[in-house]
Amino acid sequence: MIAGMTRRLDDAELEASAVVANIAMNRGRTLASYRRELGVDPLAEAGTGRWLDLCCGTGRALVDAAAVSADVEITGVDLVGHFLPGVPPPNVRLVAASVTAWEPDAPADLITCVHGLHYVGDKLGLLARAASWLTGTGLLVADFDPRSVRLADGSPAGARRRPRSAGRGSRTTPGAAGSRSAAAAR
Ligand SMILES: C[S@@+](CC[C@H](N)C(=O)[O-])C[C@H]1O[C@@H](n2cnc3c(N)ncnc32)[C@H](O)[C@@H]1O
Repeated sequence: MIAGMTRRLDDAELEASAVVANIAMNRGRTLASYRRELGVDPLAEAGTGRWLDLCCGTGRALVDAAAVSADVEITGVDLVGHFLPGVPPPNVRLVAASVTAWEPDAPADLITCVHGLHYVGDKLGLLARAASWLTGTGLLVADFDPRSVRLADGSPAGARRRPRSAGRGSRTTPGAAGSRSAAAAR
């Protein structure tokens, strides 16, 4: 550890910390909000395939999406099982688990993570695992604020920028690196 730096928490400590386990964060974004944050329309991307949303919060955006399309198969995963009250629509499955350990049982056409990476310790590890869960033409889109990462001197690793780009399959659109909305390839 570098002198003056705070100790890095492991996954169990992080998940039990007040940073992750708090009710102040916005956990109920709508589908319209997801579209704005990600810069893509999840329903257009997922089509009639599988959409996996990591760190899904209450699952509000997913339930919104199911009201528009009964054909897409949606799974939301969140550490906290405080999902929208009531039984989710038949094409929505909400799972209480940590994305650092959970794995899907089938490849996904679309994987999203909206304001979730900030709370995960090994962000690149999660992105790499998630990318391995995509179909050959699948898309992984994750919102990310580089200011949440601190350099050794304590300064933020980057400036906040608007979503600009997304990557699909083995293609990554130039400009994704450093952007607030990042994409990963298969
Ligand atoms: C700011 S909220 C965003 C929720 C949702 N994506 C939205 O935009 O409404 C971040 C979510 O990440 C979840 N989270 C944090 N660490 C997690 C982990 N290791 N595994 C799964 N979910 C996690 C939190 O429980 C919280 O619901």
